[in-house]
Order: sequence, then structure tokens, then C-alpha cells
Amino acid sequence: MAEKELPFPYEYEDLKPEEDELIKTNFDMPATYIRLGPKGYMVFKSYMKDAANIYNMPVRPTDVFVASYQRSGTTWTQELVWLIVNDLDYEKAAEIPLTQRYPFLEGFMFFDEDILQKIGEDMTAKGDENFNREKFLEAISVMAKPVTPMLAEVPLTTTRFIKTHLPMSLLPPKILDTVKMVYVARDPRDVVVSCYHLARFLKTTNFQGSFKDFWNLFRIDLYSLTPYFELLKEAWDKRDNPNMLFLFYEDLLKDLPTAIRRVADFFGKQLNEEQMTRLCDHLSFESFKTNKSLNFEDLRELGFLANDETFIRKGKSGGWRAYFDDEMTQQLEQWIEDNLRDTDLRFPYMNQ
Ligand code: A3P
Repeated sequence: MAEKELPFPYEYEDLKPEEDELIKTNFDMPATYIRLGPKGYMVFKSYMKDAANIYNMPVRPTDVFVASYQRSGTTWTQELVWLIVNDLDYEKAAEIPLTQRYPFLEGFMFFDEDILQKIGEDMTAKGDENFNREKFLEAISVMAKPVTPMLAEVPLTTTRFIKTHLPMSLLPPKILDTVKMVYVARDPRDVVVSCYHLARFLKTTNFQGSFKDFWNLFRIDLYSLTPYFELLKEAWDKRDNPNMLFLFYEDLLKDLPTAIRRVADFFGKQLNEEQMTRLCDHLSFESFKTNKSLNFEDLRELGFLANDETFIRKGKSGGWRAYFDDEMTQQLEQWIEDNLRDTDLRFPYMNQ
């Protein structure tokens, strides 16, 4: 079947003019968002160039997906899963950056042509001596490309590790009949704060407003891949599927060895005490901070990162308290209550 004829069940909708205006006021980047899927998920319009290919992607029993809403501990979980499945091959993990080990299914949409052009122009205009234009052009030619064609070329004998923040409804409908998926979720309050920093960190979003501005957008579903709770509920509803392992960031924080054991069991692997100690050490926040294979610092010389932010940031829970004033806290509580009313999804330690 020709590519453009692949079935895709959703039409997209443009944002309302007042929503577009809010985006333009707060994000200094030229790309266009649309709403897609059963819950009107916010994706960049460029997503449509691979939406049907992703939805119809031929998946394999050896595929390993790590999925989440953004800033929920995805990178942490990816490294953990990769090492377990690859029998703790630390050398290879250090050698090959995580981004290469895990193609990012919808990653291309964040590198929309208009955005890239603006970043290139801004960096050149600034005359930043750390900016390497040649490398920038080389990198964007890779990052702006959908990964489904490349994934199809991976030999059948090779395990494909895939990262995604997409809702289940935009993935192949029967994906869990075939692949193994590790899902990681996090307390929404800390997710909002971490997303605010990410939106500032990445020049591809280039958020200009205050935290309060960000919260006011997030709670009305005006940030990439929101509505947050809807996306999470789609995955939560699949948590009892034997091919899905549903984790919480807070569980990894509180008791990493137990989380590691759950992942190892899920993949039919066993670890002795010595292996467990080394893996816990490797997965520690301090080790991540300086690990060039996973801290995204290689994007800095390409001009993609803001100077005062880092990808591996605080690595704690409860940091939201320092960001929300009384009025925002009330809105936050109401937002959570409203969204948890029709589900048994609960976040661990939320009331502590
Ligand atoms: P904070 O911004 O709250 O620090 P993702 O990988 O899904 O984008 O998630 C990023 C969040 O996970 C960030 O949260 C980051 O600091 C945190 N994180 C990354 N590695 C970690 C680790 N080894 N231990 C604890 N937290 C980690």
C-alpha cells in the first residue's frame, strides 16, 4: 500500500485563534500546533507527515518501548531498561549515546523546519563562538527526519529500543499484543515544574513566560502532548496487560533496587548483589548528571540549549511546592481532583 494511503482514523483540528495567540505570546518559536486523536492531543503540525506511518508501524515481538509523558523519568527508565536487556553492557552504553540507542518515535516533530531555521539564524546573529554551524546542519538533517523508515530497516535479529511520549491512541492499535512496553508516570505537580524548565531549556520551544504563565497554559492543555491526564489514563488502562510494565518515578526514587528487580523480572533477567550495586550506582542522579551518553549536553554546541538550564536537573520529588503560590495551589488541587474523578489512577506518596 502506498504510504499516503495508510489508514489513519483521526482528523486534526487547528487551535482556536485565542489559543494560538497564547502560544505565540509565550513561546518564541514559529511552529504550528494542532490537536489530534480522541482527546485532542497537542502535537506540532509536522507530526502529520508520519502520523499514519507510526499508527501502522509493523511492530515485532522483540521490540522494547519506553513510554511516558515528558519529564516523568523517561531517560532514567530508558537507561535502566537498556542495561537490563543488554546484560549490563556498560561499555556499549557509554559508547553509544542514548538518543542513538533509542530512536525517538515522534522526535522529528519538535524539529520543525521553521523552528530550525530560526535557531540557525538566531545563533548566527548572536555570533556565539561555541556555535558550530556545520554540525548544526548535520544534526538537524537527522533529527528532523521521521524514524519509522529507519526502524523498518533494522535487521529482524536486532532488538529495537524505541522512546515515545505519544498517547496509546496514536500508536499501532494492537501494539501490546506484540511488543514489551515499560511506562513511567510521575506526580503531575513535579511534571509541570520539570516541563516548565524543559520548555525554557530547549530552543525548539523557547518558552519566555514565568512559571505562572506556564502553569496557566499547561492546565488548559496548551503544551506539547497535553492533555496530560488523558494521555496517562490511556496507558494506565493497559497496566494489567502482561506486555506492559507500569512504573512511577517516585518508586524509582524511593527504592531503586526494587524497581530494578521489577524491570529485570519483566524481561526474564536476574541480577546478583554485586550487579545490583553497580547498576544502582550507574543510575544515580550524580552519575547521570555527568554521563555524556545521556545528559543531552551534546546539543549545546549545536545551539539548541538555553545557558541557564540542564536536562538532568534536580532529580527529586516535591519540588513543585517552591513554585506554586496559594492561588495556583488551589487551582492545582482542583485540576487533579477533577481529572482523577473518573479513574482509579493514583500517584504514590502524593499526600505525604
Ligand atoms: P527534574 O526536572 O524534576 O529534575 P525525562 O527523562 O522524562 O525528561 O525526565 C526528566 C526528569 O527526570 C528530570 O526531573 C530529571 O532531573 C530526572 N532524572 C533524570 N535522571 C535521573 C536520575 N538518575 N535520578 C533521578 N532523577 C532523574
